[in-house]
Amino acid sequence: MSSLPGQPPMNLPPFISYHAGDLVMEGVSLKQLAMEHGTPLFVYSRAAMLGALAAYQRGLAGRSHQICYAMKANSTLAILQTLVRAGCGLDIVSGGELERALAAGVEPGKVIFSGVGKTRSEMQRALEVGIGCFNVESRAELDVLDDVARGMGLRAPVSVRVNPNVDARTHPYISTGLKDNKFGIAHEDVLATYRHAAACAGLRVVGIDCHIGSQITQTGPYLDAMDRMLDLVQNIEAAGVRIEHIDFGGGLGIDYHGDEPPQADDLWHQLLKRLDARGYGQRKIYIEPGRSLVGNAGVCLTEVLYCKPGEQKNFLIVDAAMNDLPRPAMYQAYHRIVEVSPRNAAPLTWDVVGPVCESGDWLGRDRALAAQSGDLLAVLSAGAYCMSMASNYNTRGRAAEVLVDGDTATLIRARESAADQLRLESLLPSV
Ligand code: LLP
Repeated sequence: MSSLPGQPPMNLPPFISYHAGDLVMEGVSLKQLAMEHGTPLFVYSRAAMLGALAAYQRGLAGRSHQICYAMKANSTLAILQTLVRAGCGLDIVSGGELERALAAGVEPGKVIFSGVGKTRSEMQRALEVGIGCFNVESRAELDVLDDVARGMGLRAPVSVRVNPNVDARTHPYISTGLKDNKFGIAHEDVLATYRHAAACAGLRVVGIDCHIGSQITQTGPYLDAMDRMLDLVQNIEAAGVRIEHIDFGGGLGIDYHGDEPPQADDLWHQLLKRLDARGYGQRKIYIEPGRSLVGNAGVCLTEVLYCKPGEQKNFLIVDAAMNDLPRPAMYQAYHRIVEVSPRNAAPLTWDVVGPVCESGDWLGRDRALAAQSGDLLAVLSAGAYCMSMASNYNTRGRAAEVLVDGDTATLIRARESAADQLRLESLLPSV
């Protein structure tokens, strides 16, 4: 618990606190980092990521398991390296993510490949490097994978992604386990799909998987999904197809704004009780957490460019925008915004907005802040689905990134220049 001077206490994410009037991450001053590297700047705490991972590791201790970090949440190489060195495998969803995963030094056998639209060439490359499992999402995909693998004289390790038709009770854009989502194979078609897969010469059935959504803050949907998965495993094995591992996906939420998701170790304590009670306690468990490993480990530092008070609304125009932090515009997501060096002044109510030419370019609405132009703000809980979803809209270069470890800060991604952005384009020949 840390608080601003003269303000009520507030919960800041782990490893972020105020010291002598300035926000620090682990042992590093965020103001210092902004001065050194400019803004907008993403800064991540290594200890926060490893702490989040440790909660899963505690929860699954003594069980045969593999944690595959869903790298779509943040795929910066040094972030991947940090988690891979701590024992994580990776959950990938594209050929690009596969190349990043390999560049970060993951063991290919610890890579699982999710996603509804894998191409033949992505399948080929993944087979070539020997990934651990393809999480297949349709019968059509299964047949193409079978064909590709046979063409290479290989058997592709497969798991079928089940759509358990469970309501994850989260935002509709990030809910994935309901019947009307494009994801997974419907519960009632799963057995037939496994029978088919088991008969394909280019496939080797290794597992079953599901992923019911993201930013889940309750245990109930996980327990429901587990029950449905275990019913299926029972039926599939009764039909003579052995399931080596059960993958329960990712989805555990984080505290953005007073959210109270279960802690990963408590969640798994409860899930393992259910698994044991149903006689599957010895089965290898896979999970694919993304947000819960990195979300609260990151902040985005941004400078206030202009204060624009108005009749209806006051606007703080900052140098970060929807291209850096797309979640508010896309999902009306809430990210807390705090002053890096709070002023001892009465706050006003502001909408914090970026320079992009769209009314949707807002980062926070109706925020009480005492900031003035030139001040630094920190957008909190920005470690997941921010940098990895950042774009070049308005030809804005993507932000730089820094990883903090104790008193040390390392630049892990340089700021993208205009030249970087123009590099792949060509002008037409002169007329
Ligand atoms: N596994 C699969 C198959 C997934 O589709 C996802 C996320 C994960 C694992 C990791 O889920 P997590 O633990 O991070 O919740 N851009 C959205 C989130 C999209 C999530 C997509 N799938 C956001 O910013 O909220």
